[in-house]
This record gives sequence, C-alpha cells and structure tokens, in this order.
Amino acid sequence: MPGPEQPADLSQPAVDRMVADALAAFTAAGSSAELKAARLAHTGEKSPLALANRAIGTIPGPERKESGQRLGSARAVVNRALAEREAAIGAAELERQLAEERIDVTLPVDLGPEGAPHPITALMDLMGDVFIDMGWEIAEGPEAESEWLNFDALNLGPDHPARGTSDTLFVHPIGDHIVLRTHTSPVQIRSMLDRELPIYVVCPGKVYRADEFDATHVPVFHQIEGLCVDKGISLAHLKGTLDHLAAAMFGEGIRTRMRPHYFPFTEPSAEVDLQCFVCHGESVGNPDAPCRTCKSQGWIEWGGCGVVNPRVLIACGIDPEVYSGFAFGMGIERTLMFRNNAADMRDMVEGDVRFSRSLKGTAR
Ligand code: PHE
Repeated sequence: MPGPEQPADLSQPAVDRMVADALAAFTAAGSSAELKAARLAHTGEKSPLALANRAIGTIPGPERKESGQRLGSARAVVNRALAEREAAIGAAELERQLAEERIDVTLPVDLGPEGAPHPITALMDLMGDVFIDMGWEIAEGPEAESEWLNFDALNLGPDHPARGTSDTLFVHPIGDHIVLRTHTSPVQIRSMLDRELPIYVVCPGKVYRADEFDATHVPVFHQIEGLCVDKGISLAHLKGTLDHLAAAMFGEGIRTRMRPHYFPFTEPSAEVDLQCFVCHGESVGNPDAPCRTCKSQGWIEWGGCGVVNPRVLIACGIDPEVYSGFAFGMGIERTLMFRNNAADMRDMVEGDVRFSRSLKGTAR
C-alpha cells in the first residue's frame, strides 16, 4: 500500500487492480457484517482507492486531470457494485429473518387462566352507578385523613370513644393528627366544604379499623357513603333512597327498616336493616325453623344513616335554617356477603382469582 511519501501508483493497471480486488471482496462477502469489512477495506479512509484519491493533488498538472478521471470512474464502479451487493445481502437477510420469525396463527394456544374484576370493586362500581343514574356524583377523599375531618367536624368530640387507639389507626408521628380514615364520612365534610349547594354525592372507598381478621371482620374494608344536602330534605327522602338502593342490589320487593340508633353526625340516626333474604322473616318466633343468617331475628343490619346533624352543617358553613340533608353509609363487604352468599370475608382479601371468577357476572 503506498505510504504518504511514496508516489501513489495511479496507472490504469494499478487502478484496475484496485477495482478488481474490491469487486472480488464484495462478491465474496456473504453477510452484511462481512460486506461491512470489505467496504471499509476497499472504500474506507485507508483503502488503496482513498489513498490514491488523496495523492491526486501531488501529481503534476496535465497528468492530474487524467488520473482524476480514471479514479473517479473507478470509484463510481466500486460504489455501484457495493450498493448492489448491499441491497442483495439486505434482501436475503430480511427474507431469512421473516422465514425464521414466521408464526403459525392457526396453532392452538393456551391463553392461561382468565382473570376477573375483584367482586368488591365490581360491587362498589355497581352501587355507585345506581346513584349516577339518579344524577348524583361520585366524590372521593384521601385514605390518610386529618383527625379533624374524620372526627371533630363530624361532631365526634376529642373524648369520643371511637377516637381511642383501640379502633383508630394513627399515622406516625401522632402529633401530626393524621389517621387512616375509619369511615367514609370525612368525604361528606370535604364535599360540603368544597361543593356548591345542593349536594348529591356518593363516596365509595377503603376504610381502616384496628379490627381482628376473621370471617366477619377485616381491618381494611370498603364503605359507600351517601350525602344529600338541599332545601326541604327529610327522613322520608332518606327512606326512599335506601329502598331504591336495596331494590337495585337485592331485587324488587326487598324490605328495609330503620332502627333508632345514635351517630354524632346525624340526628335523628338509625341503623338500616334488610329483611333476611334467607328466611324472609319466617324464622321469627318459629323455633322449628331457625335461621342462621339472621339468627331468627328476621332482619340483618346493613348500615347506618340519619338526618345530617345541624352542628355538622354549621361546621361546614351551611345554614341549617335553610338547608337540611341526609347521609347513610354501608359496608361493601357486608353487602357482598348478603348479595352473593359470600360467607367468609377472608376470601375477599386473599386475592385468589377463583373467588373473583366464581362471582364473575353476579356483581354486575
Ligand atoms: N360512618 C358511619 C359508620 O362508619 C355510617 C354512617 C354514615 C352513619 C352516614 C350515618 C350516616 O359506621
């Protein structure tokens, strides 16, 4: 190979040899990697053709033009041959790749086990939809909630037993006054503080209590809370709304009753019971046909409800002389137990897809 100080051989035979060498190397290359090596060797910066090209400048006048033309056409021949070979090798390689990656879409496949939405999620959506159909809105709030919204604003004073550490999970450090919400009721307060009147919202979500983990208790469970604040709202509207929800969940004809109770944030307050869906009340006073579901009471507890306590309205800046409201809240797990005969709450948290699949379609 001519060095910089050696005069390059630009004669026709020398150039022809360079071209012949290059073409032979391109033909011999069987893959794009081999062709790349041949390209570098025969057209790269240090190839004979490139060095010869660089040497043209050193050639005296009349010969320079001739050598330049000779090299120019030689390089054109080489570049064309290179492009053709590149195209041919590229096409062959693509062909091979397509053949190797070919898939037979007619082969039978095992899709694996099919999943299903979790029944709690599905039921929560379904209950929310009952209200959306009536023009209500869904409201949400954080699960780590301020103690004030979870308790104080709901008229649960600092000495209320529900604030004790036995029930409530506090977020460290305790001085920050953040709790894992023990019910969805703080979303009532958030809604009254944030929204324009009138208010018609349902708040579905997770709640936390330091409870045992057994067939009927889980420390993390779900509630759906309803709140309406408008002019002229009474207990009758509450009863009608609960009956509508019960019918949507358990079918027309299901009976509900309100049993007097106490909640600090509603006045009057009640617990709402469903007529036992197993014995339909026939076990009451009938020792020959006892009912395990309702313990022969005829009714089962579903949730809590009441007329919003005026003190709560005042805490949220709403004039109780003009507005009144009702609120209710029930457990989604409990509703699922009654509605889908899911006897053990532990099944609801274990995440076994067979449980979800067994209830697939029943929650919707
Ligand atoms: N927050 C109450 C509970 O968790 C339920 C409830 C909601 C009661 C709304 C009355 C009104 O037990």
